[in-house]
Amino acid sequence: MRIQGKEYRTIWYEDKIVKIIDQTKLPHQFIIKDLKSIKDAINAIKVMEVRGAPLIGATAAYGIVLAIHENNSREFISKCSEELIDSRPTAINLKWAVDRMMKKLSGINTDQILDIALKEAKEICDDDEKFCENIGINGLKIIEEIYNKKKSTVNILTHCNAGWLATINWGTATSPIYHAHKKGIPVHVWVDETRPRNQGANLTSYELNEEEIPNTIIADNTGGILMQRGEVDMCIVGTDRTLSNGDVCNKIGTYLKALAAHDNKVPFYVALPSSTIDWNIKDAKDIPIEERNSQELSHVEGIDENNQVKKVLIYPQKSKAMNLAFDVTPAKYVSGLITERGVCKASTNGLKNLFK
Ligand code: MRU
Repeated sequence: MRIQGKEYRTIWYEDKIVKIIDQTKLPHQFIIKDLKSIKDAINAIKVMEVRGAPLIGATAAYGIVLAIHENNSREFISKCSEELIDSRPTAINLKWAVDRMMKKLSGINTDQILDIALKEAKEICDDDEKFCENIGINGLKIIEEIYNKKKSTVNILTHCNAGWLATINWGTATSPIYHAHKKGIPVHVWVDETRPRNQGANLTSYELNEEEIPNTIIADNTGGILMQRGEVDMCIVGTDRTLSNGDVCNKIGTYLKALAAHDNKVPFYVALPSSTIDWNIKDAKDIPIEERNSQELSHVEGIDENNQVKKVLIYPQKSKAMNLAFDVTPAKYVSGLITERGVCKASTNGLKNLFK
């Protein structure tokens, strides 16, 4: 991933400090923030300085490292691991990463525990980068096929930010797009603004600009008419939790895009690493759906004419608002799952064949 021409990862460790790009400040300010304690790590996940399923998993892994710096007793580490899992409820990657760390640390002596935790957190990041790169290689074939038929720019619609900012590098939904662009296939991305926090407008458009990929921000409700007009060749989105039957939980509004895509026969793909698959929950109704503060709806942040960041209220003062952060798209509306092992049907058999 490139920011102002320089290669970055979204999270790294230096001299007992975890470094992150503070995503609450993008796109107007690029700030690298230090996480120095387990409290900092939990807070960064809660207030969404880091966000996106794979990245919050990686932050939780490094959170365990920060906890060990503070106190390497079993009790403390295990209490911190629970707090990390509870810091956001919907993305399964959080629990996946914490469980992987705790499994690695079980039975390890206190004098070795820090080194082993640090090595495992780094491996979680390296694995995610590799997974996302492979998602790109596998998804590229789908874009290539559309291009070979169409012989002109492939228009791809995406929702929220499932780009490199949401992972360690490459992104999930954006990785096939970056691979296509590198191969010289002309692509253009319709970026859903993604109310209320505007991850599409603030983050996806920002990172596509940095990679010089043509993109246009649209209001969340615009995708339908673009599909009716034949201006969307495919949709690719990410996911916070995909069930073993292929049902996909992702940012609120994804379901409506999938319905519009189905009605207009536009292929609707979901890109995910295996760390996002929930093999336990069988019924989508049991997925914990995060409800966030309604101020995320009623207030909007931006820069004024003096380049100062300002937050303003846009609703009537007395109005109530409700802010559900995720929804579930039933598997029947998903054309395919793009994973690090290949593309499969969004179904129990599809996933079983890839991940035996
Ligand atoms: O609330 P967010 O911004 O963390 O939600 C992120 C998404 O919905 C992404 O699509 C998902 O985490 C996949 S990221 C590769």
